[in-house]
Amino acid sequence: MARERSTYRCQECGLAAPKPGTCPDCARVGTYVQLVEERVAPARGAAARPSLAATRPQPIGEIRVEAGGQRTSSGMAELDRVLGGGVVTGSLVLIGGDPGIGKSTLLLQVSRQLAERAGPVLYVSGEESAAQVKLRADRLGAAPSGLYFVAETDLQAVEAHVAALAPRFLIVDSIQTVFLPGLESAPGSVSQVRECGARLMALAKGRGIATFLVGHVTKEGAIAGPRVLEHLVDTVLYFEGEQHHAYRVLRAVKNRFGSTNEIGVFEMGARGLTEVRNPSGFFLAERPKDAAGSVVVACLEGTRPLLVEIQALVTPAGFGTPRRTVLGADYNRVCLLLAVLEKRVGFPLQSQDAFVNVAGGARASEPAADLGLVLAAASSYLDRPVRGDLVVVGEVGLAGEVRAVTGLEARLKEAAALGFAAAVVPQSSLGGVAGLALDVQGVGSVDEAVKVLLGP
Ligand code: TYD
Ligand code: MG
Repeated sequence: MARERSTYRCQECGLAAPKPGTCPDCARVGTYVQLVEERVAPARGAAARPSLAATRPQPIGEIRVEAGGQRTSSGMAELDRVLGGGVVTGSLVLIGGDPGIGKSTLLLQVSRQLAERAGPVLYVSGEESAAQVKLRADRLGAAPSGLYFVAETDLQAVEAHVAALAPRFLIVDSIQTVFLPGLESAPGSVSQVRECGARLMALAKGRGIATFLVGHVTKEGAIAGPRVLEHLVDTVLYFEGEQHHAYRVLRAVKNRFGSTNEIGVFEMGARGLTEVRNPSGFFLAERPKDAAGSVVVACLEGTRPLLVEIQALVTPAGFGTPRRTVLGADYNRVCLLLAVLEKRVGFPLQSQDAFVNVAGGARASEPAADLGLVLAAASSYLDRPVRGDLVVVGEVGLAGEVRAVTGLEARLKEAAALGFAAAVVPQSSLGGVAGLALDVQGVGSVDEAVKVLLGP
């Protein structure tokens, strides 16, 4: 019999090396990650290799797709949309997110819906006891009979439960807590996560079980463990939001069964997550009227328009380098836009602290929010409000020019639907938006926009 051997593996990038030390690949980009020892049992003969006759090439035109039974509605329209139209039979979905953001809550709610509509669901938790999950389930209402729960971390036991119960849906919360006893590395290490992921993939595909995996997120915001897990699964979703705000966004970053452009919006309340059908109304609910420094921009999340309020506060700086604090938008982008405002419009912002916030915990990270960010800062600096029923759309270039954006019509339609009466858009896009119930004005430069909206 071949001897077990050790490899040393980087827990960040998955690189395997024969000797201990720091990871040479990660060191090249400036982070020093200690390699972790793993014992690898040698593959034993034929058993480790798939049978040579197991697959057969087929003309692609003749491949039959199971009609009808392919997708199941999860009972939550916001989730169905992100998945591309429902839960696909036999798919493997990874859901990542910060601790406490609501991943377990979301999946428990989805499990209840699926158990009611489409057959047995097995919820495996390696993080919480049955009593803890029961408490949470009770907060969400009476549980349907098809929902089974087991607190288990041994993947072989999970496989046995799946064989016995034959569920149509499987939830594994989380992939970092399950382990295969045959591998000597600890749960959550790269080799465990990868092997468990591969085994669950085989289970999902082999038995046609739609499987959801919860994945923890590292400080850097990636799913902990290796990137290989993201390559393996069919769909990667991120559940995001601010811990202190009620709203949560579910975003697809990879989807083999649909586009990655869709988002789902939820609100966390006392009885779990509820879907937010009108997110713009939600973000603008507490907007101050006629306040200097407040501007509404029409963003586009995938194909979905979303109106958010940008707030800026520009105040004289004490001494030294002025402060720049940005929440909900890209820091470097805001610095760039403040520099444009200084150079092209002539505001002396070097002597001013600037604080920028996107209200309600929303995000305005696309270039189309540029003009809104600039105008919010200008409005605060001049201490003059822009009119309250106005939305702003436009990308800003370094020369101070206002550039065209995509999807202008969808953005303005959303604004009109929410009762906004006026819009400022890039001059070059004016042609495409005739006939809307909005007073649309085109601007060619930041200077012009400031003059038009905030006076000479
Ligand atoms: P949880 O789903 O446990 O997060 P994760 O699995 O991503 O770590 O959610 C935890 C938070 O959600 C917790 O702080 C309590 C809150 N919560 C509510 O506000 N309302 C509810 O009905 C539930 C079930 C949880
Ligand atoms: Mg959890």
